[in-house]
Amino acid sequence: MSRFAHAAAPDDGQAAPVAATRSEERTSRAPADLNALDPTIWPRTSGRTGGAITIGGIDVRDLAKDHGTPLYVVDEEDFRSRCRDYRSAFHDGDVHYAGKAFLCREVARWVDQEGLGLDVCSAGELAVALSVGFPPERITLHGNNKSVAELEKAVEVGVGHIVVDSFEEIARLGRLAERYGVRPRVMIRVTVGVEAHTHEFIATAHDDQKFGLSLNSGAAAEAVRRVLALPSLELVGLHSHIGSQITDIAGFEVAARRLAGLLVQIKDEHGVILPELDLGGGYGIPYIAGDEAPDIKIIADGLREIVTKVCGAAGLPVPRLVVEPGRSIAGPAGVTLYEVGTVKDVEGLRTYVSVDGGMSDNIRTALYGAQYTAALASRASRAEPMLSRLVGKHCESGDMVIRDLWLPGDLTPGDLIAVAATGAYCRSLANNYNYLAKPAVVAVSAGRSRVIVRRETEDDLLRGQL
Ligand code: LLP
Repeated sequence: MSRFAHAAAPDDGQAAPVAATRSEERTSRAPADLNALDPTIWPRTSGRTGGAITIGGIDVRDLAKDHGTPLYVVDEEDFRSRCRDYRSAFHDGDVHYAGKAFLCREVARWVDQEGLGLDVCSAGELAVALSVGFPPERITLHGNNKSVAELEKAVEVGVGHIVVDSFEEIARLGRLAERYGVRPRVMIRVTVGVEAHTHEFIATAHDDQKFGLSLNSGAAAEAVRRVLALPSLELVGLHSHIGSQITDIAGFEVAARRLAGLLVQIKDEHGVILPELDLGGGYGIPYIAGDEAPDIKIIADGLREIVTKVCGAAGLPVPRLVVEPGRSIAGPAGVTLYEVGTVKDVEGLRTYVSVDGGMSDNIRTALYGAQYTAALASRASRAEPMLSRLVGKHCESGDMVIRDLWLPGDLTPGDLIAVAATGAYCRSLANNYNYLAKPAVVAVSAGRSRVIVRRETEDDLLRGQL
């Protein structure tokens, strides 16, 4: 019966062939225990109690009953503990949480309480932060095309750093700062020419892309000249972000070496010593069994060593290191909970398990061929594993949450499925395709759950229309 078909079943011609190959390699054999929760992937407080998954001391069945499904569940302790891990690894630098991974008012409060800074890349993200009194001096504004209104707001509230990304922006910000009679602290986003080993859409430091000013072409050095020529701007450092979901730390080290080299060049050319070096985010996390993720302490030590060596050799003081992790703080803390609606065997091929969400709450599979781990969450099962495809309810065959995974063969409508490591770039990329309402986000901690972003309603979906 197809329910137990082998992973090497014929390809159905759907998107993401590379990811599919990797996925099939990993899924060619069922895991020894389908009930096990890999601690490198699942939230730090998760486990099974009496069969059902618990997170933050709460049974997922209670979460589904109290808040409905689909549901984004955030393990508050996991999120906060990863903030603390970063702070301790970069104890002599600054850690800014990249809000694009997942930001809401409550998360901004956690980040503030844990003593991190915050990266924002739009007026909207800035507004969320300011609405809970996040200290503006610990906010950095990013973006390759910030509007004048966004720059004005940043200048007006006095954000700690603005990372400039083009010559136009340097001139624009210079004029604005003059008009406001302020001197914003500026960093220059440098494209360091590193080919990061990640999906093309999320690799950002090779030359042929929209972000930053190229080191190779001399555009970065020219940007330095232009900023230094404007008395209304205070140049405090250089910034680079080489991409996202990067697991090979060599790329970060090359970027650090090149940026430090530019610091030396700046001192030689202008006699100016820049005090800060922002190496961006991008640290990968494990999504499926066998994924390796870099240890943040090893990364911190490695980066510190490189920058110290390059700057030391040139007689430069070591700049303060800044990093901007998003995914590696928010990702592992989040789980999406779905209810199974249908279990359909496609004879000779595979079993399609349909859940009550899909590409509107997690578009990463469709967009990047992303891979995830999921488990039957509402009970344990000893049934034989069946090779499945976890799909959503959208009118599109590319609407997959997980292309290939093993689920217990006794799976049935009404069961709850939890998908791990969805805390980053799922809620923040959520959309209303097919007029599905965005799910609620619930924080769990010490046996309590709290809605931190409420579920959208039909009224929300109709709001703003004639
Ligand atoms: N800093 C800057 C300037 C960034 O552009 C980003 C991410 C980060 C920090 C944080 O990177 P992280 O530590 O989260 O990798 N939507 C894609 C990811 C896009 C990342 C954009 N920039 C995904 O779902 O994989």
